[in-house]
Amino acid sequence: MEHMSVAALPSRDAMLTALSKVNDPEIRKPITELGMVKAVEIDDAGKVDLAIFLTVSGCPMKETLTRDSSNALLALPGVTSVEVELDVMSDEQRAELRSQLRGGAPEKEIPFARPNSLTRVYAVASGKGGVGKSSVTVNLAAAMAEQGLRVGVVDADVYGFSVPRMLGVEQRPTQVDDMILPPISHDVKVISIGMFVPGNQPVVWRGPMLHRALQQFLGDVFWGDLDVLLLDLPPGTGDIAISVAQLIPTAEILVVTTPQQAAAEVAERAGSIALQTHQRVVGVIENMSWLELPDGTRQEIFGSGGGQAVADSLTRSIGAPVELLGQIPLDTRLREGGDTGTPVVLGAPDTAAAVALRGIARNLGSRARGLAGRSLGLTPAGR
Ligand SMILES: Nc1ncnc2c1ncn2[C@@H]1O[C@H](COP(=O)(O)OP(=O)(O)OP(=O)(O)O)[C@@H](O)[C@H]1O
Ligand SMILES: [Mg+2]
Repeated sequence: MEHMSVAALPSRDAMLTALSKVNDPEIRKPITELGMVKAVEIDDAGKVDLAIFLTVSGCPMKETLTRDSSNALLALPGVTSVEVELDVMSDEQRAELRSQLRGGAPEKEIPFARPNSLTRVYAVASGKGGVGKSSVTVNLAAAMAEQGLRVGVVDADVYGFSVPRMLGVEQRPTQVDDMILPPISHDVKVISIGMFVPGNQPVVWRGPMLHRALQQFLGDVFWGDLDVLLLDLPPGTGDIAISVAQLIPTAEILVVTTPQQAAAEVAERAGSIALQTHQRVVGVIENMSWLELPDGTRQEIFGSGGGQAVADSLTRSIGAPVELLGQIPLDTRLREGGDTGTPVVLGAPDTAAAVALRGIARNLGSRARGLAGRSLGLTPAGR
């Protein structure tokens, strides 16, 4: 009987060295340094079982990671096959990774997350794209500023930033030491990831990097004392909504939907993340509710009842009253206001859409606890 000569199998260290050549496609650092290798073992037949921690579930880079790490291991003499098992990091592991990415420097404190912060934070969310979330955000911001409140807007929709254009912001933020001063337009302080991206390159940030970007927006930007901060979230129930909940636990969710049933269903899902994150849903805004025809009749282009349906359904699922805060009709001037950078609440304040938006702004603004002359101690001397 012939004896097979067994090739020396690679040691665990050798396998880890091989894996240290594999970068996380997003963070671009070796997976071994990022704590992403959960386990690596080889059996007598040369079959490697590798377990990898993904930074977030549903990571679109998982194929690349699987392929790269398999190839790295297969290049080792003695390795006959590689089986990759994917797991997802826990919140603690992600926090550890973020701290490591900051090089151990402490995270900057987010003023709005302080227990004594008087700033009311509204995160504007929707289940579906294109329902008018950004339009609603900039109009509420402009209306509240006009009503005398100190207002800031964060364009947290890192995939499709539109807030600066809608508010007519052209300047970039100014940097003073490690502090970023937000441009101001229509009395609204505005920060968008678009301001940090040269040209119009698409931004593909997720998970920890996204969290980091938001952390920076909120921590490194000098906002001064604000009455209201509005966050324009990307559509859907992605990582950023969870990050907002972690970074500003007191942020309240404002759900935007259209009257359409399908949009309403996804909006409801967006609202129900609030349940998981223990955030308050401050209300629902129905946009594109109808088009007023020259004879004064209303044409319900996208159907009707969606906003109320979402409010009712959220009330049931959350177990606390969620109001329909208002209905905003379709109006060409609202779209034009967005395109020209003068929100309709300022440019055509008497249109039905502007009246509805100003009403909602007054409602939300008056709920603001108000700074009542108190300083948060953030204003540097000499300002
Ligand atoms: N009530 C309205 N009347 C007329 N046009 C509107 C209205 N609301 C929004 N629009 C227009 O619809 C388009 C989409 O609106 P907007 O960009 O605000 O939506 P969004 O939910 O932020 O979209 P995205 O998911 O891409 O971020 C824009 O061109 C905007 O001007
Ligand atoms: Mg938008």
